[in-house]
Amino acid sequence: MAGQEISKGESLLLKGHRHACHIMIHADTDAKLFGKTPIKHIVLMQMRFDGLLGFPGGLVNPGEETLEAGLSRELWEEIGVALKVGPEDHCSSCLALSPPNLVTHFYTKKLSEEEVREIERAAVSSAADHGLEVMGMFRVPLYCLKRGGGFPSFLLHAFVGSARSQLISGLRALGLLSPAQLQAALAKAEELRQ
Ligand code: GTP
Ligand code: MN
Ligand code: MN
Ligand code: MN
Ligand code: MN
Ligand code: MN
Repeated sequence: MAGQEISKGESLLLKGHRHACHIMIHADTDAKLFGKTPIKHIVLMQMRFDGLLGFPGGLVNPGEETLEAGLSRELWEEIGVALKVGPEDHCSSCLALSPPNLVTHFYTKKLSEEEVREIERAAVSSAADHGLEVMGMFRVPLYCLKRGGGFPSFLLHAFVGSARSQLISGLRALGLLSPAQLQAALAKAEELRQ
């Protein structure tokens, strides 16, 4: 479920709404699974304390901090790296379907493979929320193997809020998967669900 899209500026004028910012950190890679299936892209997500999958980030208070500064603070808590996020990294904003009166802002940021490795190390060794609000960071399998292994199977997991839609729209916006690849993966996921 996605909720209604809204511009960032318009959303900040709403009265009585809370704001949450989450980010899709990604990198290109030459790695090959089993020495043959190209991984192509690394995309980071997390297993949350509630058992749902989501992106790193959290609630921000636009009265006290910019959205981007609030997101950086959440990243420091959840992944242990002070990643600089700017307005240019903003991807979309939505009025959440649930909980009510929540605006979810979605950002994307491309790093190098080595920078992603640094985040993965810090997420375990120094992030304050590790083992508490965040049970672990992981990489999303974006390839499609026989019988729907990889991305189609991944899409069957339970996601928080609109994180699943954010993942799909982020992959599309950045061209990490083509519209045809996305459509095929979504169709395969529905087939697996039966
Ligand atoms: P606290 O520090 O406990 O307040 O958590 P937080 O600030 O890290 O907030 P959290 O990341 O849980 O995000 C706040 C709300 O946004 C959640 O209650 C969910 O409804 C929603 N949410 C969480 N993760 C995601 C995500 O990846 N995408 C979207 N769209 N919504 C999310
Ligand atoms: Mn093995
Ligand atoms: Mn948090
Ligand atoms: Mn969070
Ligand atoms: Mn928080
Ligand atoms: Mn917290």
